[in-house]
Amino acid sequence: MRHLSVPSAQTQHWLDICRTQQWSSNETGVTRLDNGRNAIPLNDSAPDDRDEAWDNNPHIEIEVQPKGPTHWLDHIDEELAETHREDWPRSYEIQGDVLIVKIEETVWVYGEMIADAMLTQLPNIRLVCADLGVKGEFRVRELHPLASRDGTLGTRTRIRENGYLLWVDPSTVYFSSRLSNERVETLATAIQLRNQLKRPLVVCDPYAGVGPSLGALLSEPNLVSGYCVGDLNPDATELLTLNIEHLNTRRKNEQGGQASPLDPAELHCRDALDWSKDSKNHGKIDLLLVNLPHQSIPHLETLLPLLKRNQTSVLRGWAIVDKANLIESEQTIHRTITEASGTLEKFSFKEIKGFSTTKRFMCFEAWLNLSA
Ligand SMILES: C[S@@+](CC[C@H](N)C(=O)[O-])C[C@H]1O[C@@H](n2cnc3c(N)ncnc32)[C@H](O)[C@@H]1O
Repeated sequence: MRHLSVPSAQTQHWLDICRTQQWSSNETGVTRLDNGRNAIPLNDSAPDDRDEAWDNNPHIEIEVQPKGPTHWLDHIDEELAETHREDWPRSYEIQGDVLIVKIEETVWVYGEMIADAMLTQLPNIRLVCADLGVKGEFRVRELHPLASRDGTLGTRTRIRENGYLLWVDPSTVYFSSRLSNERVETLATAIQLRNQLKRPLVVCDPYAGVGPSLGALLSEPNLVSGYCVGDLNPDATELLTLNIEHLNTRRKNEQGGQASPLDPAELHCRDALDWSKDSKNHGKIDLLLVNLPHQSIPHLETLLPLLKRNQTSVLRGWAIVDKANLIESEQTIHRTITEASGTLEKFSFKEIKGFSTTKRFMCFEAWLNLSA
């Protein structure tokens, strides 16, 4: 295919000209050449290389590979694809090498064919599962395996998030990569608190799941001195244990040497509300995470005694709230803190976008001081 060869620093300028004049071809992208130049693909309507418009930039021929399929639907019979145009899945979620997809009743019979097409299009996927909805006490998804690349049907897999690795298992433990930004925010808050207290923190994540927040916190040198974490779901605590073991082996101090051992280092399969039944757990925590969105706010009263007294500590939680109850929910959090003899130093109550339209998914962050 004919290309215009231009100095790489002028690529954008020439791309703009070719697009405005409708001389560029969409069949392929810009090709980087060895000589500090780039090649812009041209279509048949572009004038020949003697035209003054090219400012003496030469034309060259580059062989272009035809573009392969770009979507899994390209691997399905065209007529069938057209017949069910409105019904095919429009999105899916990937956790590690497992792909999870909701399939409408109308195309359920084509489930295996859809999964095969997805395996063909996505070389890093091992297993495609249909999402049958949330089930049980721990609100995990019921998954139905549709097709596997290597015959294995296990859903335990490993993901990379913000640079750290985590074992997850979408059929037994809750995990959402959509909240990875929240982990970034949690890390930023923790660093701010560490800087204010001028020492590493003891953190508590009693609804830890597989431990994504710990992934962010333990990866930061000299941020955490100890942790109390857990989950009521035994499958979650199994993966949490594996993940913390791995994160621990990679911990470094600020000089890049071996980090000091964590103390406390408590991990339990237990109801979050049981931590505070034992008074030896009171007054130990600098940063408390509360992530049980349907119950975070009512659980606060029982959890607050875990925080250290007579110093600034931070409570960071997530809650699903009816649109109509936003103000009331905020007031309840304030009241619970006051009733636990806490003084609020800073407070935010922010919506996390992209969830249900009838309810709001909120993150609250309270900087507080509990008096003795
Ligand atoms: C929304 S998930 C959050 C998991 C994790 N923090 C994350 O961000 O991925 C809530 C977690 O709380 C656990 N859970 C539910 N009720 C609990 C309770 N009473 N005590 C401790 N954990 C509980 C669930 O098993 C689940 O792993």
